[in-house]
Amino acid sequence: MWKTALAFASLAELATAQQSSNTAVTVKWLEGTPKITTGTTFGLPWVRGQHLANATSFTASSGELQSWVTAYWPDGTIKWTGHAIAGSDAPADEYTITASGPGNGTAGRLRRQASNSSAIQITESSDEIVVNTGKITASFPKSGSTLLSSIKTSSGKTVGQNGRLILRSQSGVAEEGDASGIDFFSFESKIYNTTVSEDSTARALVTVQGIHHAEAGSHKDWLPFTLRFYLYANSYAIRTIHTIVYDGDSKSDFISGLGIRFDVPLADEELFDRHVRIAGTDGGILHEAVQGITGLRRDPGQEARLAQYDGTKTPDKSTWDTRVTSRLQWVPTFNDYRLTQLSADGFNIAKRTKAGQSWLKIPGGTRAGGLAYLGGATVGGLAVGQRDFWKKYPTSLDISNAATDEGSITLWLYSPSAEPMDLRPYHDGLGEDTYAKQLDALEITYEDYEDGYNTPYGIARTNEVYIYAFDSTPAADTLSTLTEYTNEPPVLVAEPGYIQETKALGSYWNVPGSASNSTTDATTIESHLDFLVQFYRDQIEQRRWYGFWDHGDIMHGYDTDRHQWKYDIGGYAWDNSELSPDLFFWNQFLRTGRADVYRLAEAQVRHGGEVDSYHLGNFTGLGTRHGVQHWGDSAKQARISTPVYRKTFYYTSGGDERTGDLLHEAFQAEQAWVLVDARRKVRDPSVVYTPDPTALYLNFGTDWAGLAAAQLIEWERRGPRWEEARDKLAETAKTFPKLKFGFVTGEALYNSEDGSWAPPPTDPNNNGSITVSHLSSVFGVLETLDQLFEHYADIPKDFVNAWLDYCYYYGAPKAEQAARYGKDFGKLNLRQGHSRLTAYVANRRHNATLAARAWDEFLNDNSADELSPDDPWATVRYNGSEVLTPVNEADWITTNAAALYGLAGIELLALT
Ligand SMILES: *[C@@H]1O[C@H](CO)[C@@H](O)[C@H](O)[C@H]1NC(C)=O
Ligand SMILES: *[C@@H]1O[C@H](CO)[C@@H](O)[C@H](O)[C@H]1NC(C)=O
Ligand SMILES: *[C@@H]1O[C@H](CO)[C@@H](O)[C@H](O)[C@H]1NC(C)=O
Ligand SMILES: *[C@@H]1O[C@H](CO)[C@@H](O)[C@H](O)[C@H]1NC(C)=O
Ligand SMILES: *[C@@H]1O[C@H](CO)[C@@H](O)[C@H](O)[C@H]1NC(C)=O
Ligand SMILES: *[C@@H]1O[C@H](CO)[C@@H](O)[C@H](O)[C@H]1NC(C)=O
Ligand SMILES: *[C@@H]1O[C@H](CO)[C@@H](O)[C@H](O)[C@H]1NC(C)=O
Ligand SMILES: *[C@@H]1O[C@H](CO)[C@@H](O)[C@H](O)[C@H]1NC(C)=O
Repeated sequence: MWKTALAFASLAELATAQQSSNTAVTVKWLEGTPKITTGTTFGLPWVRGQHLANATSFTASSGELQSWVTAYWPDGTIKWTGHAIAGSDAPADEYTITASGPGNGTAGRLRRQASNSSAIQITESSDEIVVNTGKITASFPKSGSTLLSSIKTSSGKTVGQNGRLILRSQSGVAEEGDASGIDFFSFESKIYNTTVSEDSTARALVTVQGIHHAEAGSHKDWLPFTLRFYLYANSYAIRTIHTIVYDGDSKSDFISGLGIRFDVPLADEELFDRHVRIAGTDGGILHEAVQGITGLRRDPGQEARLAQYDGTKTPDKSTWDTRVTSRLQWVPTFNDYRLTQLSADGFNIAKRTKAGQSWLKIPGGTRAGGLAYLGGATVGGLAVGQRDFWKKYPTSLDISNAATDEGSITLWLYSPSAEPMDLRPYHDGLGEDTYAKQLDALEITYEDYEDGYNTPYGIARTNEVYIYAFDSTPAADTLSTLTEYTNEPPVLVAEPGYIQETKALGSYWNVPGSASNSTTDATTIESHLDFLVQFYRDQIEQRRWYGFWDHGDIMHGYDTDRHQWKYDIGGYAWDNSELSPDLFFWNQFLRTGRADVYRLAEAQVRHGGEVDSYHLGNFTGLGTRHGVQHWGDSAKQARISTPVYRKTFYYTSGGDERTGDLLHEAFQAEQAWVLVDARRKVRDPSVVYTPDPTALYLNFGTDWAGLAAAQLIEWERRGPRWEEARDKLAETAKTFPKLKFGFVTGEALYNSEDGSWAPPPTDPNNNGSITVSHLSSVFGVLETLDQLFEHYADIPKDFVNAWLDYCYYYGAPKAEQAARYGKDFGKLNLRQGHSRLTAYVANRRHNATLAARAWDEFLNDNSADELSPDDPWATVRYNGSEVLTPVNEADWITTNAAALYGLAGIELLALT
């Protein structure tokens, strides 16, 4: 459905062409056409030189469309756009987005369609922002403690108010029931600022930033938050992205409840017409009324009973059996409901008439849908749902005061019914008080420990919450649909072939079936890639890799004796993106368009960028090496926080704003390197460490590549520091090849003020220094550099050649290494993982002999960190007394090997 782009060599040529150029691109729903859409945002890439950003307009085949540019090619043409479409009860199966232009050079910014009456209306005053979507009107105060002061339906009913954050914490945890000396605190939200997006025709974005402020007890303000409220035209939903950054002290700040609460006005509703609905499992919904009239000894009449069950208004009371109406005062009303999901495997529900009376158990279930509704048949109400509710346990949903004039719904992102959140280190240091002891411990548990570095200070978590407003209690089926919607918000994506053609996300992957498979059987590799994706999906479920901080991560190494991943063994536990499984999954999604791969990779984006990376403090911009706790290891590096892992999500989502923050933040690694001496444990004794921003001693792969990814994205996005980012990349490209041995130098001095490089302190005269590590180029370096080469078309050739030399020599015979560099590189690991470097140089230098070398490296590595065609490519089932719960085991897989096989397989298929 898309038209091949007109490729212009230069802007001048583009200008002379001057004829109107139209490109039509079709997007489809990832998981098939949804029943409804409450509005959605997606991203599209465009070929270089095709559409000038300031003279292109976009139209959609149906519905209201809002468009904006999320990235530019260096020539000023559009690289990526974001598009929002309005809410609809009948979404189209697909949408064709047509870009028109450059036309004749119409002045001004991206041309927008004239908005029409169905578009969003925004009113901003000094103290609030009011957004009217046509279906609801929501008011966002600019100060105080209330984030969302009211939600009104189009008929004028206020169905939600006083939306606010709740935080509880305590200064210690009780041991053996002894809570003496523990202080308890409760906090409310304190707003710093509230802003609204400028362009808001199909979508308005209200961003509220603030901090939690003590209501009771004396505690500093803490836990800064950012809430983003997305409201689409013609929609009754508010999508909310809730982010907190942990800035407490893990030894004295234990979160015991983190939630968001809305009040629901009920004064004008009869108690028997007030409804409580709570999502259970498999589309199930609990049907309750605050005052039940079903199941009583006397029957009010079938019509009344059914109305209550269905959530419609009961017939006038005068039509009921008077034996019921005369005795309603004896039928208890239930004020409070509570659903608690304290594990991924079960939830409980209970209700009570009021505080001080016993809770009644309601039969529970396994995995709750995470949505609750409170409202009335005539006054309407509110539903609040959390995405991945059970996967992010401990969570809960409270409905309170439903029998009073104002009820409330509280979504607990961290349940107050759970044990307080304990972020303390899991061991006491084991006496590892010197670098020598820490390095020795690394030899046995593979943990890189250091007191003070095992800190959660500065990690973040983002949750996705949906708020739905109703004029009257909705049908249970509607709530069931919305529960599904909340958990898998529909996504629009372009065809893999189109994305590939634009080269906006690199040129090292292709669409299955398009590869030449003369050297090996592509079908086998495809089946192995599918196997690995399915394996990790199954392991996540069987091993219960879920929880508030854990959801979205996978494990690193496997203990074959215990039939258990090494969740408790130092550096083998949580993977923290080691060797780029994220990139494997994103590339596999890009080439196949598969929904299951997308969902796996999406959860990783929300995990790695938040929990495994730092957002405050000295480590901002860096991430943490794999370990038992996501933040526990003392190696803080940009190889974990690198934006290349989150870039595909960022652009294909139309520029998810939270992810955008993370990409920008990674730029701050430059400051972190001044504060954190990465080589402190392993420094060459001849080098004296000086924290000098003009001479940061960096590895090109584990350090700089993450920064380079951040700089490239900043340049593409034209973020606040884009010119600086562009200039630094240019300076790097100019100066790095001057290192006598180029990338083979491995580690050298980076000047964070201008992006230039100088020889390492061990080789000040630039005689040529060799530091080749198996780790340098397995954290997205090739992918980052290829994206840079595609973007920066006139990048100095010396820089590209320096990289191609590295790609060539890493796996070259020792004699060739020695002939070129004076000595060979010694023993190097990860041959299979590096076959993609060989494939890359083979492709760029059109060398078939090298392509054969790449396949040999890929197929005949025969080391511990590779997967071979001779591996079983099957799992073994363990059950009974051998394991806690039945599991599928593949003891021949490590996550390092899986990630490298996946990436190399994809890239060899594309490049050779
Ligand atoms: C206005 O919105 C309606 C409903 O979304 C749509 O059918 C119509 O095409 C729009 N008109 C314009 C001029 O965009
Ligand atoms: C550009 O197009 C507009 C209308 O499409 C026309 O009025 C205008 O004269 C054109 N300008 C030039 C420079 O051709
Ligand atoms: C449009 O953008 C191009 C490239 O950035 C620039 O040269 C040109 O002056 C711009 N035109 C207008 C009308 O803004
Ligand atoms: C909001 O306030 C915080 C704290 O003062 C500040 O850091 C942030 O930049 C502000 N954001 C906006 C959008 O004004
Ligand atoms: C790949 O090889 C198989 C045989 O192994 C062959 O049937 C198939 O057509 C080949 N595919 C391509 C794209 O060359
Ligand atoms: C941050 O870095 C500075 C400078 O190295 C150091 O003095 C300070 O103790 C560090 N702070 C933390 C919390 O690590
Ligand atoms: C580097 O080369 C210079 C001469 O260019 C020589 O004086 C010096 O000893 C060499 N240094 C090393 C470490 O080889
Ligand atoms: C291709 O690579 C092989 C193997 O390294 C090398 O011997 C040969 O010179 C290369 N051919 C060309 C044309 O560069």
